[in-house]
Amino acid sequence: MMQPNLIAERYMPIWNAARPFLNVRNNDEHTLVAYALAVQFLKVTPDADPDVVLPTILLHDVGWKKVPQDLLLLAVGRKPTRPDLVRDHELYGVEIAREILTELAIDGIKPQPILDIIDGHDTDNTARSINDAIVKDADKGWRTTPHGMRTIAGWYNVPLSQVVLMLQERSNPHMLTPAGRTLAEANTAAVSAEFKIKDYLGHGPEFDTVTAQEDTEW
Ligand SMILES: [Fe+2]
Ligand SMILES: [Fe+2]
Repeated sequence: MMQPNLIAERYMPIWNAARPFLNVRNNDEHTLVAYALAVQFLKVTPDADPDVVLPTILLHDVGWKKVPQDLLLLAVGRKPTRPDLVRDHELYGVEIAREILTELAIDGIKPQPILDIIDGHDTDNTARSINDAIVKDADKGWRTTPHGMRTIAGWYNVPLSQVVLMLQERSNPHMLTPAGRTLAEANTAAVSAEFKIKDYLGHGPEFDTVTAQEDTEW
């Protein structure tokens, strides 16, 4: 098997322990892509601590496993009817992550700063610290990646253009660091430019586009 080289060896025990909790709602895939973003943000953020940021990324969504699966999509999206479940997954996540980190007891990886970020990672949009800001930007920045946009469009069965509108209106404004903001705005701007290729050239990729006016509810 090809040697995967995304997750640093130091954090592989955490990934292996988190995996059984991540196999709901594409969380395992989301976690890997968010990890890659966090690694990039760390490169331009020398004040941040990889031993806090990267374990937190791997563990931040383990709590979704304890939320009833048929209710998952009601918790997120444009008009969530069960926002209480978002809070639940944070609190369950803190419990599960505490057990995992205590059990593993990796030298130099302290549980508390990690648990403090998991607790509030979705319900508090503010940057409580630079580590917290990077985790939140990697998590929300995922939405603007090719993988994130495809996944979200699939969850709600909506065209890509509708996902882009949602991100520009409701998600990008919450990015917390210059790097995160640029990533999110550049990704959505690039896809928006794709929608306009045909207008400029008379040929190009076809998209099922919606306007802001048509973009009502999903
Ligand atoms: Fe989350
Ligand atoms: Fe997440």
